[in-house]
Amino acid sequence: MKVLITGGSGLIGTRITQLLQEKNIEVVHLSRSPSSKFGIKVYKWDWKKEEIDEACFNGVTDIIHLAGAGIADKPWTMSRKHTIIKSRVETANLIFKTLKKLNHSLNAYISASGIGYYGAITTAKVFKEADEPHNDFIAKSCIYWEKSADQFSDISSRVVKLRTGVVLDKNSGALAKMDKTVKYGIGAPIGTGKQAMPWIHLDDMAQLYLDILLDNSFNGVYNAVAPEKVDNEAVTKAIAKALNRKLFLPNVPAFVLRTIYGELSDIVLKGSHVSAEKLLNAGFEFEFPKLDEALKDIYK
Ligand SMILES: NC(=O)c1ccc[n+]([C@@H]2O[C@H](COP(=O)([O-])OP(=O)(O)OC[C@H]3O[C@@H](n4cnc5c(N)ncnc54)[C@H](OP(=O)(O)O)[C@@H]3O)[C@@H](O)[C@H]2O)c1
Repeated sequence: MKVLITGGSGLIGTRITQLLQEKNIEVVHLSRSPSSKFGIKVYKWDWKKEEIDEACFNGVTDIIHLAGAGIADKPWTMSRKHTIIKSRVETANLIFKTLKKLNHSLNAYISASGIGYYGAITTAKVFKEADEPHNDFIAKSCIYWEKSADQFSDISSRVVKLRTGVVLDKNSGALAKMDKTVKYGIGAPIGTGKQAMPWIHLDDMAQLYLDILLDNSFNGVYNAVAPEKVDNEAVTKAIAKALNRKLFLPNVPAFVLRTIYGELSDIVLKGSHVSAEKLLNAGFEFEFPKLDEALKDIYK
């Protein structure tokens, strides 16, 4: 087995790389700006110029596609929306086209996707993999992202797509932003606080990618979320508890976020629960099924 990770320099890719190295599985990265951070071979690509170092595919049996412009990094201007979609879809297309040209087949193509597939909406429904997608920007992005993965069924024995919830880690991602406000004593739930916030511990996220690589029975789409369902208020309270801080401010009004972030604010102001049942039935064992335990581990 030799695994190629796109966007492997990011939060999830870094942890997967460490896990693969611990298991002595060969791993290489594709990056826009290769560095020697991991002591592995990192190849360069530039999807805007349709350039890719074809040597990156030498001996590769499996690909994990994580690359993509940060969804919540900048306000969703029209140009940012294009970048969010193209950096995921055109990168996948470039890999596919190159592998076809090289007549190179794969054991597995595993692509990140998001729970945004079900839309930035608040409903009582608990979404499952067979549910229809929503029709807002974030859902459409996930639809295009997943379609770009589906084409790999032509050259890969398996195509797996992970509709990922908020990945929890101390140093980056959503939790790092949320816990800063709690640490500074200005933490508070956002909007009504009742919007669902499907989540997964970074270690479970990385272990899931590893299990999928090693277990051929994983195929198709899975919600990558922990089984415990919580809302924004519960997460904020759990962070305060884990950090031994008090929350005393009223909720941050929705209009404040809307004014600052525009449409992007929808992904924090709205949210529905997502089911982990398919993943559990597939035999995945969460190390951190409960939020309190996950946060205890993260802040230990
Ligand atoms: N973290 C979460 O909570 C979460 C939740 C749902 C879905 N996901 C998805 O899972 C994937 C991995 O997540 P992550 O948290 O590890 O992401 P991340 O830390 O933002 O890393 C993504 C990587 O993608 C590459 N990248 C960034 N902008 C790019 C662009 N414009 N064009 C091409 N490549 C670009 C970068 O690698 P180089 O600089 O080396 O090129 C970056 O390290 C992402 O697609 C993300 O949307 C993450």
